[in-house]
Amino acid sequence: MECQCQTAVEKGEQFLAVDRIVKQVGNDKSNLIQVLEKVQHELGYLPEEVQSYVAKKMSVPLSEVFGVVTFYALFNVEPVGKYKISVCLGTACYVKGSGKIIEEFQRQLGVKSGETTEDGVFTLEACRCLGACGLAPVLNVNGKVFGKLTPEDVGGIIAQYKDAV
Ligand code: FES
Repeated sequence: MECQCQTAVEKGEQFLAVDRIVKQVGNDKSNLIQVLEKVQHELGYLPEEVQSYVAKKMSVPLSEVFGVVTFYALFNVEPVGKYKISVCLGTACYVKGSGKIIEEFQRQLGVKSGETTEDGVFTLEACRCLGACGLAPVLNVNGKVFGKLTPEDVGGIIAQYKDAV
């Protein structure tokens, strides 16, 4: 049987992080997004039990926290890889072939959009316009933008980040 101790410790630490951040930012309802951003920055993602703990600490309904987390693309409810590859599927990028780019990432990484590789290195996702349509098709890896891509560029981008792990 799998030991549950580690999980309990991790959960305790997650809640302590929320306590600290809420104390630091303030538990006023208007600070909800700021609190969630800081919690995610520290934990990497916002699991359901953390969302409900934030709701309790800030005295807001869980449905409100859930609504914010699902509305803003910057929030993750699943653990994400060290490198998040966001391929733009906005109109300008799509007509220039970004569908083929994301397919190639899916093929080479062995994951679907929204999934993380087993080694925890890459999370692949599709996103809306990144505001760099002149460079279409475009993708973003942890904030760094790559443009004018072809499917042949995919292997090099993966290798570049894999080598840095
Ligand atoms: S549509 Fe891709 S950057 Fe605008």
